[in-house]
Amino acid sequence: MPNILILHGPNLNLLGTREPDVYGRETLADINAMLTEHAQRLQVQVRCLQSNHEGELIDAIHKAEETALLFNPGAFTHYSIALRDAVAAKGLPTVEVHLSNVHAREEFRHRSVIAPVCLGQIAGFGSYSYVVGLAALVHHLED
Ligand code: DQA
Repeated sequence: MPNILILHGPNLNLLGTREPDVYGRETLADINAMLTEHAQRLQVQVRCLQSNHEGELIDAIHKAEETALLFNPGAFTHYSIALRDAVAAKGLPTVEVHLSNVHAREEFRHRSVIAPVCLGQIAGFGSYSYVVGLAALVHHLED
């Protein structure tokens, strides 16, 4: 059974109370539970991890034993060359996801330095972005 690491970046531990108009009212635990359910249906295993620290996210990518990565890098999306390099170095098929439509927000959110080393980016569908990202990764792994 394929294993997928789901990595959540900074401030996503505050989901539920953090700017609910932008990010919705679901908590990270709700999202992880929903993804675990979807994973069962898709016959894959997932492990979910959140960190507010760039170095911890890098270490998690380095140490990952999974075959693919679903990644919401949060604000690191827009400037962390170190995370981009970690994704590129590890070489796992990776999908970048965002709850909000980053392209419809402030200009500094329009650029992702990580998306170019990913299979693709999914943004703007709330927690459903993760579901679409997971399905896209499973499809890629089956291909
Ligand atoms: C986010 C978008 C980022 O710009 C922001 O910094 C986040 C959340 C999203 O999921 O919409 O922390 O990654």
